[in-house]
Amino acid sequence: MKIAVVGTGYVGLVTGTCFAETGNTVTCVDIDQEKVKKLQNGKITIYEPGLEQLFERNLKQGRLAFTTNLKEGIEGAQIIFLALPTPPGEDGSADLKYILKVADDLGPLLKDFTVIVDKSTVPVGTADKVRERVAKGAKVEFDVVSNPEFLREGVAVEDFMKPDRVVIGTNSARGRKVMEQLYQPFVRQGNPIIFMDERSAELTKYAANAFLATKISFMNEIANLCESVGADVDSVRKGVGTDSRIGKRFLFPGIGYGGSCFPKDVQALAKSSSDVQYDFKILKAVMDVNADQKTRLIPRVKEYFNNNLKGKTIAVWGLSFKPHTDDIREAPALYNIDLLLEAGATVKVHDPEGMENVKKLVGSKIQYCETPYEAAEGADAVFIATEWPEFRTPDFEKLSSLLKAKVIFDGRNLYDLSVMKELGYAYYSIGREV
Ligand code: UGA
Repeated sequence: MKIAVVGTGYVGLVTGTCFAETGNTVTCVDIDQEKVKKLQNGKITIYEPGLEQLFERNLKQGRLAFTTNLKEGIEGAQIIFLALPTPPGEDGSADLKYILKVADDLGPLLKDFTVIVDKSTVPVGTADKVRERVAKGAKVEFDVVSNPEFLREGVAVEDFMKPDRVVIGTNSARGRKVMEQLYQPFVRQGNPIIFMDERSAELTKYAANAFLATKISFMNEIANLCESVGADVDSVRKGVGTDSRIGKRFLFPGIGYGGSCFPKDVQALAKSSSDVQYDFKILKAVMDVNADQKTRLIPRVKEYFNNNLKGKTIAVWGLSFKPHTDDIREAPALYNIDLLLEAGATVKVHDPEGMENVKKLVGSKIQYCETPYEAAEGADAVFIATEWPEFRTPDFEKLSSLLKAKVIFDGRNLYDLSVMKELGYAYYSIGREV
């Protein structure tokens, strides 16, 4: 099939590349000229494990192309995916300006029946709005389908190629047939394509993300309670997670969730609920809990240093909002770094992928180090903000020799309490014995 993908962010680029990988011809369109130039020249613009290889191969074989010209990009396309940003507006609702602008532009450009697909996370009712806008300029028939994306950053290719499920929202038999054909190669193992109406599909995406954010926040609260009652959250997590109704995944406590999706989507769902006079109480609590959780360890740090961080150096390990990505949007690390600097500490950081992005945002207020050990050299403590695998089994002997004192504040519960005790570390984590 011939496909166009408008928007080359995380979702757009992964979507375009993976559809090319199954033999489709894909043109990706973006207004960012610099980005498109890079992509045309074979330079990938995001860090995503496994993507570069697919990107290079499909580019070379002519199945993947990039352009800034919408007209050229959608020429002959049977399906046009909209994978555009939906940033939060001032009131927390998803801002649809990019999507609606493209919908306006698309109408007059359509030459034949086309399926237009909302791939971005968009509020309920967006498909109707897109349909209205396209219809204004269109002289041919078209369908608007909702097909929310559930991929996770860091494992995006795997999630896209082998999705747990594909959700397609459409009431049109024609649209359904085209989408079913497109997704067949991705569900060969038997995972379902779930068809529903557009509004339900749009809400499914928000419900999934909000539920996962709730699951994490619930566990974070249990962890906080563990600290007060002398229980161990690792044991509690295993105890509850083995109940198949609850499930083992997404029960890991820490210094809160971040990223471009959970914070934005929980906020947007709360806002669209209040817009229809529904008070979605749980979501307010989830946002509240996460806001506190992000800086949960800071009072511990201050207490440890007798409320005086002046002259102290903290080595922050991990900047990205989670491992295997360079994405630092809403990363808990950044909130903690701000508070450490505010309290007068010197901050040295290391992250395998996220440092360039932090440099652009934070600049020279902090020191950037090539390795976790370089960050730890001469530091008074290590603060772990992201669970990159390489932090899981550090050379503790080396680390101990580099640090001024053996102190670790661990926002991701990476180490065994007994091991830390044996090594003589003052070790503070989340929901476990101090
Ligand atoms: C999330 C969803 O998991 C995807 O299904 C969805 O498609 C995506 O948002 C989106 O809407 O585009 P993502 O933000 O890439 O994906 O990352 P996750 O792996 O879900 O992690 C989100 C946050 O939750 C991270 O900050 C992570 O550290 C935190 N988390 C996750 C925990 O604190 N504990 C856990 O047990 C799991």
